[in-house]
Amino acid sequence: MKAYLYDKLMSKVEKKMLHKERGILLKNIEGRVIEFGAGTGVNFEFYSKHRVTAVEPDKVLSVEAEKKICGKNIEIVSASAEDLPFDDNTFDTVVITLALCTIPNPYKALKEAKRVCKPNGKLLILEHIKNENKILFFLQNILTPVWKIFAMGCHLNRDTLNIIKANDFEKISLKYFFGDNFIRGTFKNIK
Ligand SMILES: C[S@@+](CC[C@H](N)C(=O)[O-])C[C@H]1O[C@@H](n2cnc3c(N)ncnc32)[C@H](O)[C@@H]1O
Repeated sequence: MKAYLYDKLMSKVEKKMLHKERGILLKNIEGRVIEFGAGTGVNFEFYSKHRVTAVEPDKVLSVEAEKKICGKNIEIVSASAEDLPFDDNTFDTVVITLALCTIPNPYKALKEAKRVCKPNGKLLILEHIKNENKILFFLQNILTPVWKIFAMGCHLNRDTLNIIKANDFEKISLKYFFGDNFIRGTFKNIK
C-alpha cells in the first residue's frame, strides 16, 4: 500500500480514538526501545529522548517513517519481527501497535520480543482483538480473508491477548476500548 494512503485512510480513526490511546500507552516507555512493524512512523511523535530501533520490513512505509524521525534518536531497521538481528536482552521496552494483527506469525514475533527484551522489561501493546461475542467473532472470521487483501494482511480475528499470555508476559495494566474490540496493555517480560 502507498504510505500516504495508509496515513490518509487512518486519519479519522487516529483523530477520534487511536492518537490519544497511543499517547497514554507510550508514556510507559523506559530505556532502550524496539518497535515492531513501525509502518509510517505514527508513534515517532511520542518518542522524545529515547533510543528507538524501529523494525519495518516494508520499504515504502519506511521511507514515509524516515520523514517523521525529525532529528530524534530513531533508527529504522529492515527486518521481520519473527527473526530479529539483535542479541538477547538488548531492549528495555518492546512497542507493538496494530502490527500483531498483520505479522504473519505473531507467536514467533512475541517469542522474539521475549528474547530481545531484558528480564522484567516492558511489552506495550495497542491492538484490535478477537471479539468475545460468538456472532461478532463469526463475522470477523468471514470478513478476514477479504479484509486481509485490502488491509495489508491484517487479521480481524486474531486472538492477540491469548497469544501474549501464551508467551508468558505478565499483565501490568490492560484497558479495553471501542466496544471491547481494542486493547491497550502493558506487560512485564518474565524470564
Ligand atoms: C497495520 S500496520 C501498523 C503500523 C503502525 N505500527 C501503526 O501503529 O499504525 C502493520 C505493520 O506491520 C508490518 N509488518 C508486517 N509483517 C511484519 C513482520 N513480519 N515483521 C515486522 N513488521 C511487519 C507492516 O509492514 C506494517 O507496517
